[in-house]
Amino acid sequence: MDKLTKLKSQALDELAGAKSEDQINQIRIKFLGRKGLLTGILRQMGTLPQEQRRATGQLANSIKTELEAELKLKQTHIRLNQNRKKTSPKLDVTLPGRRPALGKKHPITQTIEEISNIFLSLGFQIAQGPEVESDYYNFEALNIPADHPARDMHDTFYITDKLLLRTHTSPVQIHVMEKIKPPIRIIAPGKAYRCDADHTHTPMFHQVEGLLVDDLVTFGDLKGVLNLFAQRMFGADTKLRFRPSFFPFTEPSAEIDIACVMCKGEGCRVCSRTGWLEILGAGMVDPAVFEKVGYDADKYTGFAFGMGVERIAMLKYGINDIRLFFENDLRFLAQF
Ligand code: DAH
Repeated sequence: MDKLTKLKSQALDELAGAKSEDQINQIRIKFLGRKGLLTGILRQMGTLPQEQRRATGQLANSIKTELEAELKLKQTHIRLNQNRKKTSPKLDVTLPGRRPALGKKHPITQTIEEISNIFLSLGFQIAQGPEVESDYYNFEALNIPADHPARDMHDTFYITDKLLLRTHTSPVQIHVMEKIKPPIRIIAPGKAYRCDADHTHTPMFHQVEGLLVDDLVTFGDLKGVLNLFAQRMFGADTKLRFRPSFFPFTEPSAEIDIACVMCKGEGCRVCSRTGWLEILGAGMVDPAVFEKVGYDADKYTGFAFGMGVERIAMLKYGINDIRLFFENDLRFLAQF
């Protein structure tokens, strides 16, 4: 019986190392063949004393059955493996890889770039200023003194008595004029903040400010530049309308409308049946502003304008709720 158990573990060891059907066959012959080692022992069974014969015979037979099963199992494994090697596709390293999905620029970023490119092509340069402003730059230097009613137009986020989040990009005009002398031709795209929220207002929004100062700048220059801007932005047949208005930092001041992009001036819900849509504020720089920055108001003239980027994008793309820009819903953003 000792011999039998050793023979079994020898057979299982050899089987574990077998790598081909050939090797498995050899193992089968070696142990279970007609002249095999296990067969030999079974043959000698008759020489054992009567009392040992039964138990030894049972063990030998069960080892035989077990070995046959193990041989079969191993054979199946090897066949499966060979088949897999034959049928599985090879790795094709020449196939193009899968590209990760690319993001896009936000529609507001795209609109700012589109606006900027129009003015860059006219020789304007980009200027920037801080979003946390002092009362002086946001109001005082723009001819809006502390008790001026125009301050009511701005729902200001105050940080301290004298510090605030800028309510418009116009203070960049002051920063630029304090630093350099005319001729000046800049635009200032950036964020502005007002405590206001509904379907056409968000507490943070974007503006593009413009400023041109030189000698002999006229209102005609302003009209020419804005006409060209509107036609590049909204199409060559876009009509403009200048309406008299008031801003403390420009005199005279105007609000500029384009013929409604929806109804082309016929009158519809988008333009409240007026046929016109306001797109920006503008005017000739008020001499009081030149005085604040130390420019000779008798020598220089200039024009300024300011527009809301979200508003321009809404008109251009037919969007009726400004909040869509800030909800970051990919189904909305992916359309631009
Ligand atoms: N700053 C104004 C606003 O936020 C817009 C504006 C109007 C800017 C007229 C200008 C301008 O430069 O000339 O409502």
